Amino acid sequence: MPIINRIADFHAEMTEWRHRLHANPETAFEEHKTSEFVAERLTSFGISVERGIAGTGVVGTLRGSVPGPCAIALRADMDALPIAEQNGFAHASQHQGRMHACGHDGHTAMLLGAAKHLAETRNFAGTIHFIFQPAEENEGGARAMIEDGVLERYPVEAVFGMHNWPELPVGRFAIQPGAMMAAFDIFEVTIKGRGGHAAMPHLAVDPIVAAAQVVNGLQTIASRNTHPLESAVVSITQIHGGDTWNVIPETVVLRGTTRSFSPEIRDHMEPAIRRIADGACRSCGAEMELCYELCYERRYPPTLNAVEETEIAAAAAAAIVGEGNVQRMLLPSMGAEDFAFFLEKKPGAYIWIGNGTAETGGMLHSPHYDFNDAILPLGASYWVRLAETALAKESVSASLR
Ligand code: NI
Repeated sequence: MPIINRIADFHAEMTEWRHRLHANPETAFEEHKTSEFVAERLTSFGISVERGIAGTGVVGTLRGSVPGPCAIALRADMDALPIAEQNGFAHASQHQGRMHACGHDGHTAMLLGAAKHLAETRNFAGTIHFIFQPAEENEGGARAMIEDGVLERYPVEAVFGMHNWPELPVGRFAIQPGAMMAAFDIFEVTIKGRGGHAAMPHLAVDPIVAAAQVVNGLQTIASRNTHPLESAVVSITQIHGGDTWNVIPETVVLRGTTRSFSPEIRDHMEPAIRRIADGACRSCGAEMELCYELCYERRYPPTLNAVEETEIAAAAAAAIVGEGNVQRMLLPSMGAEDFAFFLEKKPGAYIWIGNGTAETGGMLHSPHYDFNDAILPLGASYWVRLAETALAKESVSASLR
């Protein structure tokens, strides 16, 4: 595999960075030490740095050896998860209840490695903005950086992102135009009845039975209301109600998430949940005493790759691992990714890099997960080739629209 030789030279250094980040995980918008570390490294490479974008976001800016009209953004995420790590190795989390269980420590180390190399060689025309973003998990750090004006202050023609993928073997990449990851929304249904004695249910209005009907009814959104060739997920992930054996409670709270790709199906989710909750309450309620409230919140849009940038990214990956190791057709994930917010604003491409850890239990968000240090030079080499292709000196503006 033609990993860039100079990058192979600092594999050990990237591993050291990665272990340091892994041992000191920080969750959404609290990445103070992490962003400080990133800024220090970028500065030491001679890259100009702005800190404090959306709180803890960092942007490093590097100009090529020849001027060019184009600029691109390469983005890594920096945040950890509220998970108690179960690994026992030396670089395991030192922060109780927080863990780099999604490999963002590795993403940060790979982009730093690429930045170091690109700063040494500057073998491109134009400008690279290295975006290190906070709060990819749940809280939309990408959206926060955009709202803080990052794309106005650092205008770019294209944006690129990368995530490790445990199911893919080491030495492989996967990417396709169009959908890579799903839209992610959350909802809460509160069902209110009238509490009472469990032995005298006819004197109460039971929200638990209605809640059970809602849980079952929600299963029909994907199975009965969505075109069989489209994709939709509705998962209830929390049920809260009742405190003891012999009391029918007043309220039950259900919480969950929906996933979808097409805007039409996404738009269909909230009214469908409302219809099912309404129907359950009508069928169980005595004289309309049973009622519900629905809060539905749109979180992340789907992650949709642009055609031209996907081609540039796939070619850069192929230059590192060979065409046969770049999977160009895949089943998109129903997981979500807030890089989608950048892709809503700018054309770009998001790629998966094989982490090769699925078989040993190292799934994303597992307390046993660990980023695979073997892929650090692969990812850093990919970033370098991508930047050198997208901002090729020979065809200054031809490779990007
Ligand atoms: Ni992640």
